[in-house]
Amino acid sequence: MYLGSQNQKNLSQTILDTPERTVARKNDHIRICATEDVESKEEPFSSIELIPEALPEFDFQDVKLEQNFLGKQFAMPILITGMTGGIERGQEINQILAIAAVKNGIPMGLGSQKIMVTRPELKRLFDVRKQAPNTFLIGNIGVVNFNYGITIEDIQRLVDSLELDAFAFHINALQECIQPEGERNFSGLLYLLEQAVKKLSIPIMVKEVGSGISAATFRKLVNCGVAAVDVGGRGGTSWSAIEGFRGDRESYRLGQLFRNWGLLTDQSLQACAEEKRRLESAVELVATGGIRNGLQVTKAVSLGAQMVGVGMPLFKAAVNPPPGMTGLEAVEKELSFFQRSLTIAMFCSGAQKLSNLESRVNFNTV
Ligand SMILES: Cc1cc2nc3c(=O)[nH]c(=O)nc-3n(C[C@H](O)[C@H](O)[C@H](O)COP(=O)(O)O)c2cc1C
Repeated sequence: MYLGSQNQKNLSQTILDTPERTVARKNDHIRICATEDVESKEEPFSSIELIPEALPEFDFQDVKLEQNFLGKQFAMPILITGMTGGIERGQEINQILAIAAVKNGIPMGLGSQKIMVTRPELKRLFDVRKQAPNTFLIGNIGVVNFNYGITIEDIQRLVDSLELDAFAFHINALQECIQPEGERNFSGLLYLLEQAVKKLSIPIMVKEVGSGISAATFRKLVNCGVAAVDVGGRGGTSWSAIEGFRGDRESYRLGQLFRNWGLLTDQSLQACAEEKRRLESAVELVATGGIRNGLQVTKAVSLGAQMVGVGMPLFKAAVNPPPGMTGLEAVEKELSFFQRSLTIAMFCSGAQKLSNLESRVNFNTV
């Protein structure tokens, strides 16, 4: 059900965002993601087949899942994608995710820290260093925020304060269009991104949040010097649908109209991986958007992803655990399902390690 409580202005207008609005929006996002239908019905990677290996010729227990990403080694090619923070409920969720990241030896993203720029005292609502002193932590803010007063120096302060290991700028044009208080001036952002890459002290990632990245946009990002690109494709959580639930009737209709906008995660990954090979680029690829099991992870790695990002399944496990389970137990169960299904898919593809997955895709079916 749409809220109908806020007045959606004409799309060409932008209502000034404020810290109070940011807090309200973050609470809305958590509530809507926990209760409404905001996930795609499409299943990314369903048209991709791996070539089965009937005779793997190694022991299942010797399958190795370790993967390098941004100069570090992780226990498996899965990262907890940036979701929340900056509000009490968000802090609880992040603490659960941080403990799960430590236990599973995987990196974790934090949700947008925009509010911490103007209210640094809210650091405690993002900080997970107590739970995860050595975990690879990825910061996050919208690249469009550069056009609304946020500076590279602000980002460096976030990096230092939260002891971040990498920083992800999200690009979310569609979300900003549907969001009642959306910030829609995307002019000149490539130049600002390039400056950020040059000046910030840690690797910079760019991530779409559900519409995918085309080969041409990937090329521009490579030229900016980013270290990694998360293709953030269609097929999972729809930010168009989520923002549609926050506005009036027209907002809801717009959110539904565009909920299937963009490239599926596997389409975007294939386009970017091909462009990466053509450019002989070392930029690392992450595939996020609708990844719900280890079979999809295996397919993504075989198509050229270094890592995959998982959002909604871990969010839901943390927020709505099955009866009798804590949020942490439910997140751990979910990650265990990913790990086991990834191992089975690798074994049955004859890949003892992730690098063996290259060329395991049956391109006749793609
Ligand atoms: C509750 C929630 C909050 C999110 N907040 C952010 C955010 O602040 N910044 C961001 O870049 N992505 C954010 N995302 C998007 C995820 O990082 C991810 O790109 C998206 O959910 C697609 O992955 P999924 O289909 O596995 O959920 C959020 C996702 C969820 C579910």
